[in-house]
Amino acid sequence: MPFLIVDQLSKKYPNDNTNALKGISFSMLKGEIVAVVGPSGCGKSTLLNLIEYLDLPTSGKILVNGKPVGDYGPAHTFRSKMVGFVFQYHHMVSGMTLAENVAAPLIAQGVGKLERRRRALEHLENVGLGHRAHFLPNLVSGGERQRAAVARALITSPSIILADEPTGNLDSSAGEAVFKLMLAQSRLNGSTVIIATHNLAIAAMADRIIQMRDGELISPV
Ligand SMILES: Nc1ncnc2c1ncn2[C@@H]1O[C@H](COP(=O)(O)OP(=O)(O)O)[C@@H](O)[C@H]1O
Ligand SMILES: [Mg+2]
Repeated sequence: MPFLIVDQLSKKYPNDNTNALKGISFSMLKGEIVAVVGPSGCGKSTLLNLIEYLDLPTSGKILVNGKPVGDYGPAHTFRSKMVGFVFQYHHMVSGMTLAENVAAPLIAQGVGKLERRRRALEHLENVGLGHRAHFLPNLVSGGERQRAAVARALITSPSIILADEPTGNLDSSAGEAVFKLMLAQSRLNGSTVIIATHNLAIAAMADRIIQMRDGELISPV
């Protein structure tokens, strides 16, 4: 059975005269890594936001492990239990060290401070940043901040990783390094991964590519 099912998903924003998503459907197996590609404005971020349960579709549904996302409880519960997110910009809190930033998602899970710290250090080691754990985000490079964002997304061992243009803000070699790391860590964790990108070299590293245009899928899924 597919782990993630997107079924006839449509989204129309208020005050928008076209639909951002026009009834798209696809499914993914557990642990599969899919790249969603397409020009700016085609609906990639809208799709990821709906899967993350940040926003609601106008029609259609999303099932995770056979259950509609709404059945997992409040949106924040679904997110904190099931989803890790890597953004284009790292969204690190500037007054907190990398270790504190990486540990932050564990607070919502009720993990104690010592255990949070231990796991943050372990995850920073996993992305080659053990030596940067106690640095503030603005004292490390853009690539290092994005690697820390990967560690933060994975610290809860989420079933789903959503990455929206995760390398968009980096030069191509740093971007590729971050991307490879994200894939390797996600594979180790068995996460199901969706990456929105317009970098085709990066998309080619996924198991499968889904192409979008104007709110529709244009490649076989
Ligand atoms: N909050 C919003 N309110 C109104 N329109 C939006 C909003 N977010 C996105 N859109 C519109 O929805 C369409 C898809 O946008 P988006 O999902 O951001 O595409 P992409 O991530 O592929 O660039 C675009 O036409 C965009 O202008
Ligand atoms: Mg986008």
